[in-house]
Amino acid sequence: MDPADFYTGIVAEIYGPLKSFPQDHEPYAAFIRQAGMPALELGCGDGDPLLELRRLGLDVDGVDSSADMLERLRRRADEQGVRVTVFHQRMEALNVPRRYGAIFLAGPTFTLLPDDATATAALRGIRAHLADGGTALVPLFTPAPTPAEQIGRVRTAVGPDGAEFRVSVVAEQRDEAARTQTTLLRYERHHGSDSIVEDRPWTMHWYPRERFEELAAAAGLAVTAVTDTAGRPAPADAAELLYFRLHVA
Ligand SMILES: C[S@@+](CC[C@H](N)C(=O)[O-])C[C@H]1O[C@@H](n2cnc3c(N)ncnc32)[C@H](O)[C@@H]1O
Repeated sequence: MDPADFYTGIVAEIYGPLKSFPQDHEPYAAFIRQAGMPALELGCGDGDPLLELRRLGLDVDGVDSSADMLERLRRRADEQGVRVTVFHQRMEALNVPRRYGAIFLAGPTFTLLPDDATATAALRGIRAHLADGGTALVPLFTPAPTPAEQIGRVRTAVGPDGAEFRVSVVAEQRDEAARTQTTLLRYERHHGSDSIVEDRPWTMHWYPRERFEELAAAAGLAVTAVTDTAGRPAPADAAELLYFRLHVA
């Protein structure tokens, strides 16, 4: 399965019920107000934080590679009476009609791009869609291996129709040289006598800060700030989620 198609079918179905808390929209609202509109969220999924940002009246579009996630987003938008424009595209092949003052990912979705070549293509797409003086915001982190005691542990959730969802880690492979970790996840849906069980590989790919700066430069972008969640300049060896701001070089 192509990594861009991971959030489809049973994974998209379980995503909402399993979400323990929605993405905090505030940091992204602040970023958009500062960087300028219109704005574009890459990997908007089923609508967090995009729908809340639209509700605040911000001019934000969305892009996602999963038609199933976008279908859920549209349904939620209808229920909430929110109008939103979303595009079914991969961020590494971005081609939308507007140019944006702010392009961002909410959370470390960029690590779902499986290798440096795909990441560079996505950065080129960002570069091509930034308006003059526009800013991109890419949150990145280095995932930790799943602790051994968590392999096989089951998380459960209940769907709107009463179905029981179960997710567990079956196995994991980590390649430090390729900077890639692939976690084999087992997704289950049980409802009465109906059961579906599907194993899906979930790949994450990460970057030392200098490597990400090189890829950005290759795409015509310069990293102009790296901050932590509180907005403070981040030390070079920080292990937490870092926010990379990019401008046209
Ligand atoms: C972890 S979800 C985050 C969704 C949403 N922002 C949220 O926090 O609920 C990641 C999303 O990125 C999308 N995605 C993964 N790879 C992508 C790609 N190459 N291009 C565009 N979207 C992608 C997935 O389909 C999924 O909806």
